[in-house]
Amino acid sequence: MPPVTKINIKPERETGPPVEPCTVVIFGGSGDLARRKLIPALYNLLLDGLLPSNYAVLGLGRKTMTDEEYRATLREGVVKFSRQALDEDKWGAFARHVFYVSGENENPATYSTLRSRAEEVERQLGLPGNRIFYLSIPPSSFTAVCEGLATAGMTSHSTSPAPYARIIVEKPVGHDLASAKDINSVTARVFDESQIFRIDHYLGKETVQNLMVVRFANIIFEPIWNHKYIDHVQITVSEAEGVGTRASYYEEAGALRDMVQNHILQLLCLVAMEPPYSLDPDVVRNAKMEVLRCLRPIVGKDVEKYTVRAQYAGGAVNGTAVPGYRRESGVKPNSTTETYVAIKCFVENWRWSGVPFYLRTGKALPHRASEVAVQFKEIPQILFNSNTQHPQPPNVLALRIQPEEGLSLRIVSRVPGTRAYTHPVEMNFEYAEVFGRPSPEAYERLLLDVMTGDASRFMRRDAVEASWAWITKILEGWQQQGSRWLPEYPAGTSGPVEADRLIQEDGRSWRTL
Ligand code: BG6
Repeated sequence: MPPVTKINIKPERETGPPVEPCTVVIFGGSGDLARRKLIPALYNLLLDGLLPSNYAVLGLGRKTMTDEEYRATLREGVVKFSRQALDEDKWGAFARHVFYVSGENENPATYSTLRSRAEEVERQLGLPGNRIFYLSIPPSSFTAVCEGLATAGMTSHSTSPAPYARIIVEKPVGHDLASAKDINSVTARVFDESQIFRIDHYLGKETVQNLMVVRFANIIFEPIWNHKYIDHVQITVSEAEGVGTRASYYEEAGALRDMVQNHILQLLCLVAMEPPYSLDPDVVRNAKMEVLRCLRPIVGKDVEKYTVRAQYAGGAVNGTAVPGYRRESGVKPNSTTETYVAIKCFVENWRWSGVPFYLRTGKALPHRASEVAVQFKEIPQILFNSNTQHPQPPNVLALRIQPEEGLSLRIVSRVPGTRAYTHPVEMNFEYAEVFGRPSPEAYERLLLDVMTGDASRFMRRDAVEASWAWITKILEGWQQQGSRWLPEYPAGTSGPVEADRLIQEDGRSWRTL
């Protein structure tokens, strides 16, 4: 095979919008997300020359720590979790812009302390006072934080002259429709929608962004991207990890709330949306919103017919023994929280009439592998497809989200030789191979988006609520079923037999990942 031609592309900063100096305030600054994702993301932006010329990071947490102690814990996180290795000089330069302030989110006094510390840091570094507040905290504290920021006069509206104030809201935005609406009303009381960035880190992943490019920057797909040519779509997010140390959160959430309400429905929107007329954030988000509006609700008896939920039982993933979910630390022994969910659903509009979308996600599956696979219809049963015992496999376009980001197209080809044998082959494209460098982490891209004020890759209020409306109906259906036990699948296997049945009843099967 000829060597793959590597393509050298300019760093985004040279072509992207300017990034103004700013202060990033992290609520939950001493927490896991800050250490594992947010600080490594900011540090990598610095390494890539994408951070603004001047900046500050101010962590706020319950623990009492000096700036130096805070920097030391973050350094450890960078060593462990950063995409690019720690460079002592660069880290030293970054760390000089990192500060810590301790305080309880619920205590009104925290906000005057925060304000004076932010002003002091900004004076010291010569920053203009643009602020981004990252809520990496449980939703139960959102009200206190929003009100505290408002009382301290830190929520300047986007319509007012610079400096700006923006807020990033981490998931979960609620645990059902009613609670999501509550959270949205609380944030809307003090921030304008244009200041609110509801993060879904899947929207920052390379291949997820590429979905729109594949569809709308190529002429060959769009004409066949509809019910006339597409048989069905499979969206899979498979995780090898079990619940890990997150049982207290996961017990209340489960796979449907944790993965489908946000990440998977967003993927579905990108696959199914109509071409937006521009890349303006609201034009794109309107197009995605239309998809959510067209999702056929799954209610009543249909919940049993169209959804499967299950829990992992004891088994082994990659040779390592995994206890059953109900034996994991922090999980109730009689828990009915699902660690796996499979759904068959329909987007009821002209383009997708009658095309099933099969969604599945689970923990403790054999590998970490996620993809969107579009399976096209069979060719007519003549010529190379005339033997009904051996039909030609249909074309499949698979966009791999992880682990190796890329895409593949399955086509049928002739086997070299004297007889007319055919065989399916895959045309493969891998990002790392072609572009020669690993993609930035989702959080890097998304934090940069907030700094430039680009909300395209963030969830708008109406979309969050529409997703919850659809999900809540399924949750209600499950509640009515009142199951005492869920179906099980041994950890390390690809899911419960019930999920196989869901798709096999339609004469189809799940793809092997
Ligand atoms: C998070 C979920 O949103 O996404 C986790 O809360 C899940 O349960 C994670 O493990 C998966 O993200 P990624 O990027 O590792 O696929």
